Amino acid sequence: MTPIPQPLPLEDAWNDVLGKAVRGTGIDEKNLAASANIIPSQLKSILGGERPSEDTLRRLAIAVGLRPGPFLDLAFQRYQPAPFDAARWPGVVQVPTRYMDMIVNSYLVWDAVSREAALFDTGADLAPARAIIERERLKLSALCITHMHGDHIAVLDDVLKTYRPRFYAPKDEPAPNAPGGNAILIEEGAEISIGALKGRALLTDGHSAGHLTYVFTAPSGWPAPVAVVGDALFAGSMGGGVVSYSRLRDNVRNKILTLPPATLLCPGHGPTTTVGEEDEHNSFA
Ligand SMILES: [Fe+2]
Repeated sequence: MTPIPQPLPLEDAWNDVLGKAVRGTGIDEKNLAASANIIPSQLKSILGGERPSEDTLRRLAIAVGLRPGPFLDLAFQRYQPAPFDAARWPGVVQVPTRYMDMIVNSYLVWDAVSREAALFDTGADLAPARAIIERERLKLSALCITHMHGDHIAVLDDVLKTYRPRFYAPKDEPAPNAPGGNAILIEEGAEISIGALKGRALLTDGHSAGHLTYVFTAPSGWPAPVAVVGDALFAGSMGGGVVSYSRLRDNVRNKILTLPPATLLCPGHGPTTTVGEEDEHNSFA
């Protein structure tokens, strides 16, 4: 299998971002082409990744309600979040695995003193997480699911049978059918402790019906909270507004990007980022 690139590339290219905004706003493509001074067939090739002039891109961004500055920075490769700094975030590890033709992230987060750990989403292969759990001598006491899409829960049974953790899943999603353990169904405001780490759930729906973001703080050791955002936000982008584009965008703006600027954001796809970086560089912010 091809090795997973490190650092992970951005999940979405500029034309993915544009496509999400076009689909999400439901804007008529003829009108959109007209407002950008192009013909509809040009719009098709632009959405397919053929980059037009900066001026055309700016007009398109404005017409679909994207922030033009961040969008142009993405299109002209002027944005890449700072690489993850393991020394600043002890006990936080991104675990990317391959799921069909994509890469999905789970995260292991632990309390350095008690060695109690939580796994956020399962990814597509338990082996890399298991290797870290063994190397760091962790006790996996919780599994926290952001949303029930297949790529995020691909080895759910394996995790539950191997570790028997407390199993937190979003209340407003299809009930998990997992023989290895009963889910604790949670919603906005639920509190979770992992040793000395304190977490709470935020409802960040829109990509899926009950999608949760988990925000954890450590009594010492981290400069700011750690937020596992699943597919609500990606570095430079956000998940698809499958259930509601407008709710997802509101949640990104009002719940995720209102966290302290240094907060580490851990997305379900692509590299980690921070609130401050996304506030400045995310086209949907
Ligand atoms: Fe998803």
